[in-house]
Amino acid sequence: MTWWAFSFKKTEAEKTILSPDGRTKCRFFLKNSRVFYEITKDNKPVIKKSRLDFEILGEEPIRDGLKLVRLRVLKHQEIIEMPWGEDRYLNNTYTEGVFYLAESTRAHRIYTIRFRVFDNAVAFRYEIPPQPKFSSIVIKNELTEFNIDLNSTAWQIPAYQPDRYEYNYEAKNLYDLENSVHTPLTIRTPNGFYLSLHEAALYNYGSMTIKLNHEKILTSDITPLSDGTKAHVTLPFQTPWRLIMIAGSAIELTTNRTMYCLNDPPTGDFSWVNTLKFIGIWWAMYVGEWTWAPGERHGATTAHAKEYIDAAVRLGIKGLLIEGWNEGWEGDWLENGVNNKFTVAAKDFDLPEVARYAAAREVEIVGHHETVGFIDNYENQLEEAYNYYATNNVHYIKTGYAGSMITVNGQKEYHHSQIGVNHYQKTVELAARKKICLDIHEPIKGTGIERTWPNLLTREGARGQEYEGGALRPSHACYLPYTRLLAGGMDYTNGIFDITNSVKRVSTTLARQVAYFVTIYSGMAMAADRPFMYEEKFPKLFEFIKMVPTNFEKTLPLLGEIGDYYVVARKDRKTPDWYIGGVTDENARRVHINLEFLDEGAIYKACLYLDSEDAHFRDNPHGINILEKHVGKSDTLDIYMAPGGGFAIRLAKIS
Ligand code: NOJ
Ligand code: CA
Repeated sequence: MTWWAFSFKKTEAEKTILSPDGRTKCRFFLKNSRVFYEITKDNKPVIKKSRLDFEILGEEPIRDGLKLVRLRVLKHQEIIEMPWGEDRYLNNTYTEGVFYLAESTRAHRIYTIRFRVFDNAVAFRYEIPPQPKFSSIVIKNELTEFNIDLNSTAWQIPAYQPDRYEYNYEAKNLYDLENSVHTPLTIRTPNGFYLSLHEAALYNYGSMTIKLNHEKILTSDITPLSDGTKAHVTLPFQTPWRLIMIAGSAIELTTNRTMYCLNDPPTGDFSWVNTLKFIGIWWAMYVGEWTWAPGERHGATTAHAKEYIDAAVRLGIKGLLIEGWNEGWEGDWLENGVNNKFTVAAKDFDLPEVARYAAAREVEIVGHHETVGFIDNYENQLEEAYNYYATNNVHYIKTGYAGSMITVNGQKEYHHSQIGVNHYQKTVELAARKKICLDIHEPIKGTGIERTWPNLLTREGARGQEYEGGALRPSHACYLPYTRLLAGGMDYTNGIFDITNSVKRVSTTLARQVAYFVTIYSGMAMAADRPFMYEEKFPKLFEFIKMVPTNFEKTLPLLGEIGDYYVVARKDRKTPDWYIGGVTDENARRVHINLEFLDEGAIYKACLYLDSEDAHFRDNPHGINILEKHVGKSDTLDIYMAPGGGFAIRLAKIS
């Protein structure tokens, strides 16, 4: 690590920080007490001159003779090892510029802007140290601009909507952006860059959405609290990192891991954390066979749980999710969720007995807490609820926050506000103390905190397969790798084989359902259909689900375009085997996959799960070919994907 410090007292200053390879440049400037930055790559503009500013409630803007009093430049080079995920090793190499700013007249308020310039990203954050004038503040607004050419295309979902992040991605010209949109906000600029605006290490602050300001410049729009402010904080305080990922192609963008690099390493021992594949007492409720609520068709009974545990053992799957096990599902559960009990089981469900039965068969129970967003009701029971599971040997919990807003003491707040962010964090930290892993549905978006809290194995946070039956388009899963999945893994609830179910007709081919286990990474991966679909209907196809890992050594993005298709190869962490998955939108596509990433001289047995030539997500979703052949490094695979289809390949090294 090398660093330089410069001391000066300048009201006008300018300094460029170069990425390690020198191609990405971030220029900082201070002029007339205003702070700006600008980013170029290969001397082409990425972000034009953009303002950096924030407002404190009850305070004048910090602009009273603002000076750059000190600048510290540091070079950092590090390889990070992740305990689980898409890539074991991440390259955390950047040049950091820390700009210390202070007012020279009257108030003498101070703050710092810290930039990190990576080869493929720029990040910065505001840091506010304790100071004579105040020890706690209310952030009224953050005014961070991202001045990107408005002729760019953005793939966006709207913010502040009742279904949170669960919307279809739509391409829009930036000129036409009317409302605030969520991050990661992926953008293609006319000069050929693929960018994604996002944030990292979101703690104790409203999450950042993006909108066009009145000058038609993209600007941060921090999710407000019900009092209209953005965050109440004590000093020292630092905002989350504002992150701009930069790539030359859509497919290159998909493996930008800067978000994790910007998060701190874990502080405690997380060696007990293991990724998990699981089935669930779940889809049977979606297709109307069982119910969450007690009654004749109650899903979460002791008897059903035992049947599913036996099925998990036969299928070689390690985990079982049980939803609808507790008191609170009676009647309209969305309305009544205010009284949900997280330590009281339904009369026909005996958790200790189920837990014993599961433990004897080495099956992990995935518990479930549906809060319906009534955070106060949940927090009142939190310690007890996690203890109840922990003492029953339950090491995984899926949580949920259905409902258009969260409720705290009768007050409605956004899921993605400071209060929401702090609540989700509380659950992650409590779970860590109890050695429990989480899968959060209706979550706060991922900002890489899994690096610090590896027990946060996955989230939902986008439209998943629960929207099948009409509201999912084949293109949806072709947007995700370039948008939502830049924020980390997702519990998409893969592997629905009952495609033609009349209640929940699925908009994919059969082969595509196993492709998801490769194209949509999740530290907890659900095989979501009922066991008989795997054991009786399509046992050969299920083989792929059984074998595919949930923890990878490395990920190679191969081919794709946003919303059209995506092909990715991932190497297992424990074996020399590779897995390839691909998905296409409603258009058929042929892709050529060069296997040059395989080991020199080695032979692999390839099991291919492919759409048949006459497959079609609407007319012939079951058209599938399962083949085997031997391949090596010099081979190329020619793969056909049917409309709404996809494919999966397992490459097992045999010599
Ligand atoms: C929405 C979640 O996404 C889904 O997985 C869950 O089954 C329901 N809420 C009920 O909790
Ligand atoms: Ca959901």
